[in-house]
Amino acid sequence: MSLPVVKRDEKGIPTLYVHDKPFFMRSGEIHNSSASDPVFLEEKLWPALQGLNMNSVIVPLYWELIEPEEGKYDFSLLETLITSARREELKLCFLWFGLWKNAESMYVPAWVKKDTVTYFRAEKVNGEKMTTISPLCAAAVEKDRLAFTAVMRRIRELDEEENTVVVMQVENEIGLLGTDRDYSAAAQKAFFAPIPEKLSAALGKSGTWEEAFGEDAGEAFMAWHFASAVETIAASGKKEYDLPCYANAWLRQSPWFPGSYPSGGPVERVQPIWRAAAPSLFAFGPDIYVPYCADVMDSFASDENPLFIPEIRKDAVASSYALYAFGAKNAICFSPFGIEDLALDPSQLDKPPMDLMIALNIDPSAFDITGSKDCLAATYDLLGQLEPLYLQYRGTKHLQACVRHGETDYSAFLRFADYDLVVKYGPRMSGKPLGCLWVLELSEDKFLLVGLNSTPEFHVKPGVNQKLDILRLEEGRVVNGAWIPGRVLNGDEKMSLRFGDMPSALMVELQRF
Ligand code: DGJ
Repeated sequence: MSLPVVKRDEKGIPTLYVHDKPFFMRSGEIHNSSASDPVFLEEKLWPALQGLNMNSVIVPLYWELIEPEEGKYDFSLLETLITSARREELKLCFLWFGLWKNAESMYVPAWVKKDTVTYFRAEKVNGEKMTTISPLCAAAVEKDRLAFTAVMRRIRELDEEENTVVVMQVENEIGLLGTDRDYSAAAQKAFFAPIPEKLSAALGKSGTWEEAFGEDAGEAFMAWHFASAVETIAASGKKEYDLPCYANAWLRQSPWFPGSYPSGGPVERVQPIWRAAAPSLFAFGPDIYVPYCADVMDSFASDENPLFIPEIRKDAVASSYALYAFGAKNAICFSPFGIEDLALDPSQLDKPPMDLMIALNIDPSAFDITGSKDCLAATYDLLGQLEPLYLQYRGTKHLQACVRHGETDYSAFLRFADYDLVVKYGPRMSGKPLGCLWVLELSEDKFLLVGLNSTPEFHVKPGVNQKLDILRLEEGRVVNGAWIPGRVLNGDEKMSLRFGDMPSALMVELQRF
C-alpha cells in the first residue's frame, strides 16, 4: 500500500490519496494550545469534536515541547495524539510550529530563544531586533531541520502502516510583520547581491533584488529566504518519511502593504517565488478570516495550487463555504479554526479579545459560533454521503456549485446542456449560512440539488420555444451516493424550489413541451 500522497486523479485533479483512495478532508483546526496537555485532550478536546462528522483534524506539534533540551526529543505528546486520533477515527494533519508561527519565533525552544547570537533575529531598518529569527540564520534553520526530521522519523516508526497522519504543514503563517524585509547584517549582504540563479532561471529575471523586483523587492527577497528555509526543513523531513507537505498563508489584505501582513509568506503574488524555492510543497493554503472567503478561494485555487484550507472562519457561513470549496474548487481540505469551540453554547463562549483580533487582522464575526455546529455537522455528513457521486461528477460540467460572494452578489447563473439555472441567494444574516448550491446534472432532465439559503429556478435555453414544467419533485437524503426519496413535493410545496438554514437535497425531474 502506498503512503498518503497528493497526485492527479484520472481526470487530472490534484487529490489526496490515503491507502490508495481519494480522501477529502472534512476537517477542523484546533486552537493553538489545545494539543499541549494530554489531560486537556482527553477531557475537553476529543469530546468537543464528537458529532461534527469530521474525518480529520488539524493539530499543532510544538518544537519547544518536543526538544526542550538540545538534541533530546520528547515524542510523548505526538504518540498520544496519534493513538487517540485513531481511537476517535480521525486522520491527522500536523502543524509543525517550529521556527515560525504567525510571523514570530514563539514556539522555538528556550535554548534557541535565549541564544540570540547564534540564532540571530531579523531586524527592522532602524536596527531594532524582532521576535522573529531571521530566515537567513542557517544555524537556526539547521536546528529546525533536525527536529522536524526527527519528528518525521518518529511518525514513520509509529504510523507507516496505519497512515493516521496524512499531511504535514511546515511552520505557520510565515513572514515578517512591521517591516517589508529583514535588515540584519546577513540580510543586507544578500539583498544587494544578484538574485540566486535558480530564481533567475525560474522567473526569467536578473540583477539585484531591486533590479529584478523593483518596489516589491523586499517582499520577494523575504519570500525567497523563507521558502528556501522551509524547503531545507521539508525536504529533509520528507526524506525520512514522505508525507505531503504544504505551507499556509496569512492573507494579503487591507491595508495591503508588505509588513501589514507577514512579508514573505506564500500569498498569491509571491507564490511563483515560493514554487521555485520550495518544490517539496504541494500547496500554499489560505487562512481565511475576511468576509470575502469565496474570492480568496477563487484566487488561491489553481491547477498548480490545489485548494487546501487549513483555517477558515467558523461562523455559520462556514458550511456554505465548505460546499463551495469541494463543489466548485476541488478542495483537498476544508477546516474551520478553533473547531472545538463549536461544542460550546454560543453564550458560553468568551468573545475573542479585541486586541488579538486587531493584531491578527481578523474580522471578529469570524469567531461567532451562533448556528454553526449543527449546520456544519449536517454539511460534513452530506458531503460524505455525496462522495460516490462527487467522485463521478467532479471535474465535469455536470457538477456545478456556487456561493454568494459578497453583499451585492444576489444570484448565480449556471448553464447546463438543456437548461439554465438561476440561483437566487437569500439575504445574508448573522448566525445563518450564506446562499449556496450544488447542482448535479444526472441526465438531460434530472437534477440533484443540494444547498443552503437559496432558491433555484430552472429555465429553458434562450431561443428554445418550449415551456418548462416540473414532472416530479422529491425531497430526500443521499446515503452513500444513493438517493433515498422522502416526501413527493407537489401542490403548495412545488411552487418554488427552496433551501433553508440546514443543508438539504432535492431531486428534480423536468419536462419541456
Ligand atoms: C491564524 C493562525 O495561523 C492560527 O494559529 C491562529 O493564531 C489564528 N490565526 C487566530 O486565532
